[in-house]
Amino acid sequence: MHELNNREFHIRVHRSIIADLQEVINELLKSYRNGKGISRNLKESSISIWEKVIKHKIAEEGYEGPYKLRFKERPDLKEKLIKCLRDHEILEEIIGKIKHYYSNGNEEGFVLSNYTGLEILKIHVKNEESTLFD
Ligand SMILES: [Fe+2]
Ligand SMILES: [Fe+2]
Repeated sequence: MHELNNREFHIRVHRSIIADLQEVINELLKSYRNGKGISRNLKESSISIWEKVIKHKIAEEGYEGPYKLRFKERPDLKEKLIKCLRDHEILEEIIGKIKHYYSNGNEEGFVLSNYTGLEILKIHVKNEESTLFD
């Protein structure tokens, strides 16, 4: 069985990703505010967590994952599920921007899009947890 079909496991993954991102983004904001520049190491930590978000999204949408399962078991939730899938698309776009700002050295864009991405992710996981598991 796909491990993300397990409610407790899936929610733990969300909590851990969000806690890691929150920590890195607090550091990003601190560095940005003190004006001394943001270390490459810190930027790469952020990117690697966003990569985890992408992997998580691919896994949950994939074969025998919770989205496919829920679509099958609860066709009445179709609209809500489609909205969650749209959140995934928006997250992918913002992650694309984060990577773009990383490669062109736009620190303000990098910090702001990290912050925005986290806010969107928090809203998304709340909707997703209730749509997939309630
Ligand atoms: Fe998820
Ligand atoms: Fe998701």
